[in-house]
Amino acid sequence: MKKVYLQTFGCQMNEADSEEMMLTLAAKGCTQTQKLEDADIVLINTCTIREHAEHKAISYLGRIAKWKAAKEGRKIIFTGCAAQRLGQKIKKKFPHTDIVNGAKNIDNFASIIEKENLLEGQISEAICQQNKSSIRLINIMRGCSCKCSYCIVPYVRGEAYSLDPKNILAQVDAALNAGAKEIVLLGQTVNAYNYKGFSFSKLLREVCSFDKLLRLRYLSPHPMFINEEFLQTLKDCPKIARHIHLPIQSGSTKILADMKRNYTREELLAKLKALKEIGIEVSTDIIVGYPKETEADFNDTLTLCKEAQFSAAYCFKFSPRKGTPAALLKEISQEIVEKRLDILLNEIKQSSKAAYARQNGTTQQVLFETPTNGRTSNNFWVRTKKKYPIGAVVDLQIKESKDTILLA
Ligand code: 5AD
Ligand code: SF4
Repeated sequence: MKKVYLQTFGCQMNEADSEEMMLTLAAKGCTQTQKLEDADIVLINTCTIREHAEHKAISYLGRIAKWKAAKEGRKIIFTGCAAQRLGQKIKKKFPHTDIVNGAKNIDNFASIIEKENLLEGQISEAICQQNKSSIRLINIMRGCSCKCSYCIVPYVRGEAYSLDPKNILAQVDAALNAGAKEIVLLGQTVNAYNYKGFSFSKLLREVCSFDKLLRLRYLSPHPMFINEEFLQTLKDCPKIARHIHLPIQSGSTKILADMKRNYTREELLAKLKALKEIGIEVSTDIIVGYPKETEADFNDTLTLCKEAQFSAAYCFKFSPRKGTPAALLKEISQEIVEKRLDILLNEIKQSSKAAYARQNGTTQQVLFETPTNGRTSNNFWVRTKKKYPIGAVVDLQIKESKDTILLA
């Protein structure tokens, strides 16, 4: 029975893809190991969204050459977005790589494993491995058709397409029957989901109708696709998390237009206000130092953050990705970018601390992800002295907030 060591880089979409590939390998009789030394196969699932992410994946591939050389028959599979971008060039530079399979080709993963004879000599019976975790990630779309000027995703993952809701709901049913409490629906622009007229909101409502479901999350929505139907669905379905991770990227209408984001600062503020009115906490992604970002544009981002009071934000320095329109623009000085990033991080630290502090004294439903750490529906981390089983759901009163953790 071959053992697989999994190394995933990047976002939750990649984690869901890794889970899919691991299930394919499990169906062929492989098991997963947490120890690299015990492994026969290393599966590396990569990200290329920023240069730094790609470097991390490639340097891991370089380091793992020693592992491969140490024992006859060991194999390496390199998959995901960086694999898509770099293709077979990877094998030239790192000849110890056995299979390169890009993100666009994930549906053919099983046949590629067959074709490459990767599991030669495997004698065990296939085992049916059911994922037992309390949080289950499910892909509902693949690719992205937005073509934001800075983003490489549409090039490495292809045009967006939505998966059949019948299939998605069957996966939800199976996950809940296997003990999952929370479902996370995933897609690059998850709220653009539309399968032959079956909308994202309709899908949310259908998933919520499962009795066994405790909580529903989705990642990542795009502000452009937030509409009345969706806001009404949030109001009607309390199982949908009282949190949204909504990447805004910038608070300047000029920069948003250049990025091809399809919304203005004012539209964004109106949507953020509508979400807050329903009681939804908002976290976000922001790019700092996009080419053409002036001091006034950056200031627009900063004032928007002050107004929106995000509970968290991932702030990224602009990274030019070859082949994207923004990579052709003149970059602004790194010194200025660093300075702006510092200012923004400081602002976010404050709003995040304030958001945690607002939870003080409230009673929250906590889903435990470790024996002493769990998450609330509005996505705050809670720590307890008492230990709970993983997957336990407990109503707890928040006694204290410390920067980015609540104590109960
Ligand atoms: N440079 C910096 N950040 C980027 N992101 C996407 N592309 C780039 C880039 N070229 C960020 C966006 C997105 C998140 C996943 O990564 O903020 O929401
Ligand atoms: Fe990239 Fe924009 Fe698509 Fe998000 S919506 S994946 S930022 S192109």
